[in-house]
Amino acid sequence: MTFEFPRLGASMMAARKAAFSAQVRPGPFDHSWFAAQDLRVTAEDLHKARTTLVDSIVDRLATYPDGTGAGYCLLNGLAAQMPVEAVRELSVTLFTEVWSQYRFRCDRIAQDRDFYMVKTLSADGKIPVGLYGSPWSFKTPHADRNGVLFVHVYGPHVGFNGGEVLLIDALAYTQSHGFTFDEVMTWSDDPGDQKPVLRTRHVEAALEGYGRQFGQLTPDAILFVNNGPEGLLHGATELQIGDESTFSRTLHRVVVRERALASAV
Ligand SMILES: [Fe+2]
Repeated sequence: MTFEFPRLGASMMAARKAAFSAQVRPGPFDHSWFAAQDLRVTAEDLHKARTTLVDSIVDRLATYPDGTGAGYCLLNGLAAQMPVEAVRELSVTLFTEVWSQYRFRCDRIAQDRDFYMVKTLSADGKIPVGLYGSPWSFKTPHADRNGVLFVHVYGPHVGFNGGEVLLIDALAYTQSHGFTFDEVMTWSDDPGDQKPVLRTRHVEAALEGYGRQFGQLTPDAILFVNNGPEGLLHGATELQIGDESTFSRTLHRVVVRERALASAV
């Protein structure tokens, strides 16, 4: 079964619920495969073998034949090649190429639909209020409401421990255990648009069997994530702030959304 890719917004939420109750996964969850979606890149990969690199990233984000995906790609090995500003710029240009290729493969997204990218840089670990209308910094694993794909560059980090990045295939966890969406997921209670959130009692088991904890990611890495209806949840472990005067948790982020829903996360 495949879905037409939903018009993002209210129907995205319906599509997430539908994905949890449909047998859309191509096969059983493979944890060792899931935990090894890293690509260590060289200068040659970035220049001479660029098309191959982009294809390799999209392979990890999208499942044939229709772009359905529960994947991510952690590109690393960048710190030895360039400064943090260049890593962020690279994340934008690569993400643009990845989105184009993803869309080409994802034949359930009609070509006349209008998607756009939003780029943000925050230094306090919070979601920018002006952009999203909510001050929440999500730690509990969740899906963003309207993003299709996103890319993060974390750090440099100063003055804290924790904040380790998590990704969870909650759909695989739910289907493997015969749970329903409502048994495993709930909705955020922030004042803006709600997001699907993993219920606290399921976080540990879902992370252990169907997720990955990355540690504190640094500008050595670029993390691409599929946030579509069958995509992954993301979150972070609690922060322990050692020195509030120097605390800085920097996140550079680009997300692709549909134009008609510019106000929602
Ligand atoms: Fe988020």
